[in-house]
Amino acid sequence: MKNFVSVADVDNINALVQKALVYKTQPLKDKTLGADKRIGCLFLNPSMRTRLSTQIAAENLGMEAIIFNVGHEGWALEFEEEAIMSGNTVEHVKDAAPILGKYFDILAIRTFPSLKNREDDYSELFIKQFIKYAGIPVISLESATLHPLQSLTDIMTISETFKEKRKPKIVLSWAPHVKPLPQCVANSFSQWVNAWGEADFVITHPEDYELSAAFTQGAAITHNQDEALKDADFVYVKNWSTFTDYGRIYSNDPEWMLTNEKLQLTNQAKVMHCLPVRRNIELSDEILDGPNSIVTQQAANRVWAAQAVLSEILNA
Ligand code: CP
Repeated sequence: MKNFVSVADVDNINALVQKALVYKTQPLKDKTLGADKRIGCLFLNPSMRTRLSTQIAAENLGMEAIIFNVGHEGWALEFEEEAIMSGNTVEHVKDAAPILGKYFDILAIRTFPSLKNREDDYSELFIKQFIKYAGIPVISLESATLHPLQSLTDIMTISETFKEKRKPKIVLSWAPHVKPLPQCVANSFSQWVNAWGEADFVITHPEDYELSAAFTQGAAITHNQDEALKDADFVYVKNWSTFTDYGRIYSNDPEWMLTNEKLQLTNQAKVMHCLPVRRNIELSDEILDGPNSIVTQQAANRVWAAQAVLSEILNA
């Protein structure tokens, strides 16, 4: 594996999931694989799970992990080619990235979308510029449109939880939120579940919340949440802002929040969310504190997914 920025970087999803599951039972089995190597984790945006799980994963492989909160502590970076830098940006990625390529063996980057200009966000300019100029492998810690480490974790969590000899029914269900959020997690989850091909996959959201067809193609899509939830084995709850009229909130309908009553429609579905979650807006207390929630297991698995990806890159 050269870089890890989308499912397209993965040859065999099940093999990568198996690798993550082995690390879950034997965290230190490759404790010298990354000896004398260093990973730089650059955060242009906040994080808890991604930052800490990647750091722990690197250390389990014997790597040194250096965290740099660029958004708070670094120079404001410019990403546009041929920019005349008379505004707020101080350093071009073309100058910064090659230096990072000398300091580190692997670079990992979190860069959220602006949610102002869809074309710019969906061009994935920031992460592409790091790949172009760093000269070392790049891992996405969540980019403008995708969150692959989260999605690998999600498939791993579903795989280890579902033991029946049939395909699980997985429902991605939109949830209300008070702020416009990126489409990354929903895009990425759709992309990975579709590429995995081992589930009946349904996406449900209110009208006007369509995701990009580039990621959802292959899934059934309905505006009827009750219909979607019927017989579901997993419900992945997530808010996203509008894609077509980009980055807006059209609906905050609390009827879309998953409750125990709605869960009755499912096949005792396990409930997932990438976290952080706004309680009693996106997901009810009764679900999050109830027996069907697997959000803590899911977040804990972030370590093993990150470790599997780092291991693949170190072995390349
Ligand atoms: N799920 C996730 O990426 O969490 P953080 O934003 O805390 O890293």
